[in-house]
Amino acid sequence: MGGWVSRCCPFVVAAGRRSREREGERTASCRAGSGSSGGASMPAGGTGAIWRISYHDGATAIDGGSYGRVSVRRRLAGENGRGKGRLTRLDPELGLGFGKFRHFLAMLQVERDLHMIAGDGETSYGRNSRIQEKAMLMALPVLEKAAIQVYSALHPETMVVADLGCSSGPNTLLFVSNLLNAIAAQHQKLGGSDPLELQFFLNDLPGNDFNMLFWSLDQLKKTTTTSDKSPPYYISGLPGSFYTRIFPRQSVHLFHSSCCLHWLPQVPEGLQSEEGAYFNRDNIHITGDAPYIAAKLFQDQFYKDFSLFLKLRHEELVPGGEMVLIFLARKSENIYSGDLSLLLGLFGQSLRTLVAEGLVDREKLDSFVIPMYQPAVGEVTAIVKRSELFELGHTQLLEVSWDPYDNSDSELGKIDSAQSGVNIAKHVRAWMEPMIEYHFGGAIVDVLFTEFASRVGKHFEKEKTKHMGILVSLKKM
Ligand SMILES: C[S@@+](CC[C@H](N)C(=O)[O-])C[C@H]1O[C@@H](n2cnc3c(N)ncnc32)[C@H](O)[C@@H]1O
Repeated sequence: MGGWVSRCCPFVVAAGRRSREREGERTASCRAGSGSSGGASMPAGGTGAIWRISYHDGATAIDGGSYGRVSVRRRLAGENGRGKGRLTRLDPELGLGFGKFRHFLAMLQVERDLHMIAGDGETSYGRNSRIQEKAMLMALPVLEKAAIQVYSALHPETMVVADLGCSSGPNTLLFVSNLLNAIAAQHQKLGGSDPLELQFFLNDLPGNDFNMLFWSLDQLKKTTTTSDKSPPYYISGLPGSFYTRIFPRQSVHLFHSSCCLHWLPQVPEGLQSEEGAYFNRDNIHITGDAPYIAAKLFQDQFYKDFSLFLKLRHEELVPGGEMVLIFLARKSENIYSGDLSLLLGLFGQSLRTLVAEGLVDREKLDSFVIPMYQPAVGEVTAIVKRSELFELGHTQLLEVSWDPYDNSDSELGKIDSAQSGVNIAKHVRAWMEPMIEYHFGGAIVDVLFTEFASRVGKHFEKEKTKHMGILVSLKKM
C-alpha cells in the first residue's frame, strides 16, 4: 500500500512510492481547509501554504493546506513518527497556492514516476508489449527508409540516432538491430570506405528499468548481421522527459518514438476548480459522458505539448534530420470516438465497481486522471503544418487489435472473448499497474484487473475493437 501518502490526501495522481523511497523523499498532502490554523498566514485567496519538511535522516516530504508550521509538524510527527525536521515554505517560491498544488504534483509525478512494469517477470512490460511490437513492425520499413535517406544525404562520420520513450524489453532491441542492419547495408552499398560510427541514445523517464534494458542489449550481437566491416556502434541511456531539451543543438540525425506521444507530461490543467471540485468527476479520461470542457482541456494540453515536442526536436536535429513517430490516434474528428476513451471507460467502470464494493475510496477515484490523449490524425497533421518546422512525409493510419494474441481477421464470434479480455487486461496492466499502485495502493491490483478482464471480455463479445494509431515521418525544414 502507499503507506507514506497521507490518508487525507485524495488527489495524488501517481505518487511514486518506490521511486521516492529510492530518492529518500516522501510526499504527503491534505485538503485545503482541513487542518487547524497555526503559525503561518494563508496566501491571498485562502488557498493555503505548501511546506517542504526536511527530516534529519535526509528524507523530505511536501505538505500543504490552510494550516501552519506547528500543525504540519504535529500531524507529520503523528503519521510517521519522524517528528522533528526543518520546514521551508514553498508556495511563494512556486508561485502557486494549494488549490493549484495538485497540478504541480501531477506534473512532477508523471515526469518522475510514470514507468512500465520493470523486470522480465510474468506481468513485466517486456513480456507484455506485443501490441507495441506489432506497431513497430508495421513502421520498420518507414523507419529504415528514413535512416537510409538521412545517411545517404548527409554522410555523417558519426550518425546519431535516438529512441524516445524506449522502455525496456524486446522492442528496443528490435529497433536498434534493424537500424544497425539497415545503415550498415547502406554504408556497404556506397562502397563502405567512408568513415562511419553509430551512436544510439535510448531515452525514457528516470523511473524506467534501464538496467533490464542494458541486460537485454547483450542479445544484440545475435540479432544483427553486422560483420567486421560494419560500422562500430555505441549505445547510451538517456533519462529525462522528451518534453524538455535532452540533446545539444543540431546534434541528432534521426529521432524515433513508438507508442509514447499519447502520454501527456501532466494531467491537464484546470480539471479541478480552486475549490477542489472535479469537472470530470465520474471519469478517469475522456469517456462517453465526460463534459466537453474536460475533453477540451485534454485536447488543449496535447496541442501545447506536441507543439513543444516539435520545437525541441527541431532544435536538436541537424539540418536534413528526420523523425519517425508512432502513437495512438483517432480516425474520426469526434473527440469522444477514440478507442483509448473506450478502453479507459471500461477501466473506469471497473474502478467504480470497486468503489461500490467498498474497496476503493470514492474521493480517490474522483482524483484519478490518466494523462493521455489520443488525437485525431487531422489534429496531428494540422499541428505539424502550423508549426512550420517539419515537412510531412509518410502518414499512415495503423490498426492493431486490442487483443495482443489476435493475429487473425476472424469474424465476430470465432474468437474466445473471455480469453481476449484476459489478454487485453494483461497488456494494459503492464503500463497501468505502477500508476494504480501509487494512487490506490497495491492491494486492489489483482481484483481490479480481474474485473477489467471480465468487462473487456464482455465488450469483445459485441465488438472486436482495434487500437488506432498514426505513423508519420517528418523532415526538418
Ligand atoms: C508503451 S511504452 C513504449 C515503449 C517502446 N517504445 C515500445 O514501443 O515498446 C511508452 C514509454 O514512453 C515513456 N514515456 C512517456 N512519457 C515520456 C516522456 N515525457 N519522456 C520520456 N519517455 C516517456 C514511458 O515511460 C514508457 O516507457
